Amino acid sequence: TPLSRIRNFSIVAHIDHGKSTLADRLIQLTGTVAERDMKEQMLDAMDIERERGITIKANTVRIEYPAKDGQTYILNLIDTPGHVDFAYEVSRSMRAVEGSLLVVDATQGVEAQTLANVYTAIDANHEIVPVLNKIDLPAAEPERVKEQIEDVIGIDASEACLISAKTGIGIPDVLEAIVKRLPPPHSGDPDAPLKAMLVDSWYDSYLGVVVLVRIMDGTLRKGDNIRMMRTGGKYGVDKLAVLKPAMTDVKELGPGEIGVFTGSIKQVRDTRVGDTITHDKRPADKALPGFKPSVPVVFCGLFPVDANEFEDLRDAIEKLALNDASFTYEMETSAALGFGFRCGFLGLLHLEVVRDRLEREYDIDLITTAPSVVYHLFLKDGTQLELHNPADMPDLSTVDHIEEPRIKATILVPDEYLGDVLKLCQDRRGIQLDLTYAGPRAMVVYDLPLNEVVFDFYDRLKSVTKGYASFDYQMEGYREDNLVKMQVLVNDEPVDALSMMVHRDRAEMRGRAMCEKLKDLIPRHMFKIPIQAAIGGKVIARETLSALRKDVTAKCYGGDATRKKKLLEKQKAGKKKMRQFGKVEIPQEAFISALKMD
Ligand code: GTP
Repeated sequence: TPLSRIRNFSIVAHIDHGKSTLADRLIQLTGTVAERDMKEQMLDAMDIERERGITIKANTVRIEYPAKDGQTYILNLIDTPGHVDFAYEVSRSMRAVEGSLLVVDATQGVEAQTLANVYTAIDANHEIVPVLNKIDLPAAEPERVKEQIEDVIGIDASEACLISAKTGIGIPDVLEAIVKRLPPPHSGDPDAPLKAMLVDSWYDSYLGVVVLVRIMDGTLRKGDNIRMMRTGGKYGVDKLAVLKPAMTDVKELGPGEIGVFTGSIKQVRDTRVGDTITHDKRPADKALPGFKPSVPVVFCGLFPVDANEFEDLRDAIEKLALNDASFTYEMETSAALGFGFRCGFLGLLHLEVVRDRLEREYDIDLITTAPSVVYHLFLKDGTQLELHNPADMPDLSTVDHIEEPRIKATILVPDEYLGDVLKLCQDRRGIQLDLTYAGPRAMVVYDLPLNEVVFDFYDRLKSVTKGYASFDYQMEGYREDNLVKMQVLVNDEPVDALSMMVHRDRAEMRGRAMCEKLKDLIPRHMFKIPIQAAIGGKVIARETLSALRKDVTAKCYGGDATRKKKLLEKQKAGKKKMRQFGKVEIPQEAFISALKMD
């Protein structure tokens, strides 16, 4: 196919603005998938994605579109992950295409993720076609949203497509706009040495690792021997296909084209998003620019509730890791929790997704320890350490200073909730960088410690704004601050899974809150239990859980034996989810709940 008849694009949107629905319509209208095979949200494969309405893995589809000018065009849509945790993958996929549809819900307007994603598209030099969705709804205000796009993003929205992805209104205009307003691939020589960008990869239980590539230069053919320029891995191309979205074999892929190949690659880890693929015999002289490996920024411990399930957990984690190269793990032993794993994630959503999959797909009850960010420790003897786990914190007297990661957070919020949002950010040690208005909503930009965001910031933000705020962030680097490790002692035993790094000035407050919470979360025992928070051996907060006096069944007033039995059974079932710490049993949910701040 000549370049002039190829269009490669992505769709950028805030969650729920209708990206997947639009993709479905484009596929449907062009007859790419037969009507009877069409299921809603074709592109959201995994259950969790569907349930949470978020697209995690990039998906791609090739659409053949007979345009009004009489030519048939090949449109390659790359579906980018919508969440900030996958910012690097988003920016890579954007570099693989030349244009974007900017989908904005005409009843909502621009949101924080719209901004983050559209800036990534602009950085990648994309031509951008604004698309206002949901115009079937009475609350749609396309004119106002057009103005907002122009004011806030600074792109021309006068010719935005007005559509309803749900009813199908305006979809033909979107297809025409893709052909007319988005550019074809810039250049590419089919006879040059091969240069293909590795855009994504995933594990398929029948085919093994499948690699999604965008050809920049040269031609990739079935049977070729290829080499990955960063990792040095060499493979033979067994299968070469395009995604419609089902895999359809092709003999070759030329410049500007997007497709997949397989080649006996064992695990997803052997492929790096952003790597350059070339021919082994006639390699390109230079790799594509801008490769950077994705690094985990949030760590937490995962332990089985039932120590006997450790081997099951190991199997499950190893299997998951085959399919997710951005998640890291190593074995960890905790005095309190026994054997488990210290795992690293790209962000909070990534953590939640992995944890959910382990619990759901592998049916393992997990204790998740407090998420922690990566601190830089500078010791007095001049050595520098990365601290992934507060439990590994060396003695304070050996530490010269500690640096913590900071983020730049962008929050869009209706004016009436602005005060609460500012207070929340202030409470989390935020530094306000900017405050402007995007229509009736305020846009605030804060510099915040990642540590303060990692846990429940997003939940709190949602609750103080009744769900009306949108939030996005990017990493900003490290800064020194006065940080200490706070330990929690239950019945005089330190529970390492509850220790955390906190700012010195806030330690007392956090310690007190934690002890109060734990007092409510830990069931009473036959003896008194002191609950304490301490820094370097010095107790800063203390609560006492009084001893249990009466038999729990006493409140069943005598007679009713079945009720008594039921109650005891219930108690027994509840016990399964507890862990023994010395003489004390702590329920599983305490580890997460104790850390929430209200
Ligand atoms: P993610 O991919 O999950 O980030 O979200 P998305 O942007 O793909 O949104 P999705 O397509 O899942 O749509 C979100 C919700 O809006 C769904 O309930 C859709 O049915 C609904 N929706 C999408 N387009 C329209 C539309 O044009 N009109 C109306 N009324 N509802 C729509």
